Parts: sequence; structure tokens; C-alpha cells
Amino acid sequence: MNPLLSLLQPYPFERLRQLFAGVTPAAQYSPISLGMGEPRHATPRFIQDTLAANLAGLASYPSTAGEPRLREACAAWLQRRYGIGVDAATQVLPINGSREALFAFAQTVVDASRPGATVVCPNPFYQIYEGATLLAGATPHYAPSDPARNFAVDWDSVSEAVWQRTQLLFVCSPGNPTGAVMPLAEWEKLFALSDRYGFVIASDECYSEIYFRDEAPLGGLEAAARLGRADYRNLLAFTSLSKRSNVPGLRSGFVAGDAALIKAFLLYRTYHGSAMGPAVQAASIAAWSDEAHVQENRALYRAKFAQVTPMLTEVLDVCLPDAGFYLWARLPDALAMSDAEFARELLAQYNVTVLPGSYLAREVGGANPGAQRVRMALVAEAEECEQAARRIVQFIQSRT
Ligand SMILES: Cc1ncc(COP(=O)(O)O)c(C=O)c1O
Repeated sequence: MNPLLSLLQPYPFERLRQLFAGVTPAAQYSPISLGMGEPRHATPRFIQDTLAANLAGLASYPSTAGEPRLREACAAWLQRRYGIGVDAATQVLPINGSREALFAFAQTVVDASRPGATVVCPNPFYQIYEGATLLAGATPHYAPSDPARNFAVDWDSVSEAVWQRTQLLFVCSPGNPTGAVMPLAEWEKLFALSDRYGFVIASDECYSEIYFRDEAPLGGLEAAARLGRADYRNLLAFTSLSKRSNVPGLRSGFVAGDAALIKAFLLYRTYHGSAMGPAVQAASIAAWSDEAHVQENRALYRAKFAQVTPMLTEVLDVCLPDAGFYLWARLPDALAMSDAEFARELLAQYNVTVLPGSYLAREVGGANPGAQRVRMALVAEAEECEQAARRIVQFIQSRT
């Protein structure tokens, strides 16, 4: 067996399963889960229809690079969404959802034969970054997000010695779980560091279309273009239809950016065998080419967050995030409970599932930036989310 497998941490939902073992949820309440970050709004009909109408392509192998039409649809979306130009032939590549691609990209980029190979990730973070790093033979370095600065990642906390060893850096903007969008000045800082130390930036942007303010979140490629980096050097952005179009089961997204990175990634993926099926490619072209369903989807999230957030601010330290579909809340000290205890008791007494924040972060220097926090995914129907919020309020008020 690959010895690196033993370094992998249990996935947060596995830890949650263990935490909930032996708990009998209160039977008078229907179960409501705010645990998993899985979209639950309906998949648009036209995407389903396009998928079903394109089954003829199943008779042949698809190419790893994808159909030119798909890459062009992705490039056209980037142009409309961010006002940037990318060459569909050399700067875009389809992926089977951003999860596999984030993982595979670390295997493509990291040179474990160089001493001290390091990958920098935010803390809290999406656990795939860590697993990808470890299986690539590198060591993760966690940069904490700062609640006092709207959960901005404290890149300044990374020492010069660590930057010198860094080969890859993960950005998650909008962030999971914090919802924070990284502003242009932070991008400028990271690009300067990337130029100085030669590391690659993987920008995970799968929540970019679910946002709550007038201005749409800044993208990594957009930031690069604004700062005069038209070649997107050392930068790859990862985007996905899963959340944008409510198709997590389709497994479809794309990467775009530096042509040299795309070339190396395509080579890796050819051997890895991760081409996108033709029916999925057709459905993806339809999805990327339509914006009306994305606006409707965003409106549903906006209504839910407008309803639920003020209810929860009564009892929790929480506010409307920049983007994404999570509330990242701090528990009141008066509760005198850990985040895991809170999650277990809430399930037992009110049949509501939330994810303990400490499961989404790592302890560094004696502090876990997710401790005393919970993540609530507002993915269920509005009425269910409101019902869950009411129960959470009741639970906290009964304990404080
Ligand atoms: C931050 C982040 N990145 C990437 C993904 C992967 O999404 P997908 O593989 O469906 O594109 C998720 C899924 O929850 C996520 O939260």
C-alpha cells in the first residue's frame, strides 16, 4: 500500500458520523440537515433534456481536452462574467467537477523530490487540499483566516522560510466555510509572492455565482487581468457547475489560466483517464451558455439568507457572508460547550444537523480556527432552513 494513505485524516462527515453514533434524535422533530454542502435546489429542466438528447456520443471515447465547442463555451462565459479573454484552445480544460481536479492538480504540480516540498492552504479549508498535498508527497502549511478581517486569510503569517519551500498555494474565494471573497489587494500580494518564490496558485472558485451583494465576487483570473498579468502566469482557476447550476451529480467544471500549466495538467489527465463524457459535455455547454437559471438560483439563496441570518444573529455571532451558501457562526461563550458538543446536543434535542467548525480546520500553535464555530449550509428549502433556525434559537436560549 502507498504509505502516504495513512497520513489522510478522516473526512469531516465521517467524523460527524462517529460523533452522532449512539445519539437518538428527538422524535417529535423532523430531521433537518444543514451539515453537507450539497446543493439541493432543482436541476434546471433544459440541462436534463440536453443530457438526455446527447446519448448518441456514448459510442466513442471522448478526448481529455474536451470538444472545442465546450472549451469555447467556457471561454465565452469567462468573457461575459469577468470581462477577460482566454484562448479556448490552450488556456481552458474541462474537469469532472472541481474536487477531482484540485486533487489531480497537486499531483501534477508538486515535485516531491525537492526538499521540504510545501503546499500552503487556508485554515479552515476544504479538506481535499490537504489530502491532495499529502498524497503528492508534500507537507501542508496552514494559514489562518482572521475573523477580525472578515475571515481574510493571514498570508503575512507565512514565514519567508516557508515561502521558499512553497510549490503550490490554494486560494478558496468565495471561501468554504467562511464565505469571504478575496479582494484585489490580497491577489496583488499573492502574485508578488508567486513571482518571488516561483509557486503556483490554484484558485478554487466553485461558489462564485452565489453571492449576496450587488457586485459579483472577484475572480482570480479577473484579478490577474486587472493587474496586467494577461498570461495568467502560475495561476489556474477552478470553477464548477455543481453549485452554479445545481448539478453536483453531473460532475462538470473547468480550469482556466496559464497555458503552460494547462499543458502539463492535460498530460497528467491523459494518463489519469479523466475525460468528460460526451453527454455531460453537451449538457455543460448548455449550462455555461445560460445565465437566467443562475440568477433564479441566486435569488433563492438570497431570500433564504435574508430570512435566516437575522434570526440567528439573535443568538450567534454570525453575519451575512460575501458569498457561498454557508453561515460560519461563533457559539456564545455562555453556552460553555465545544462545537462538537453543540452539534451532538442540537441533533439529540432538535434533530438539526450542523457541522462542528473544528472539523474543517487544523490546530496550529495550540489554536484551531474552527473551534467554537459551526458551519450551517443553507441548502434545504427555505421553509426547512427557517424551521432549523427557529430550533437553533430555541436551543441556545434554553441553555444561556
Ligand atoms: C471549496 C470547495 N471546492 C470544491 C468543491 C467541489 O465541488 P465539485 O467537485 O462539485 O465541483 C467543493 C464542494 O463542496 C467545495 O466546497
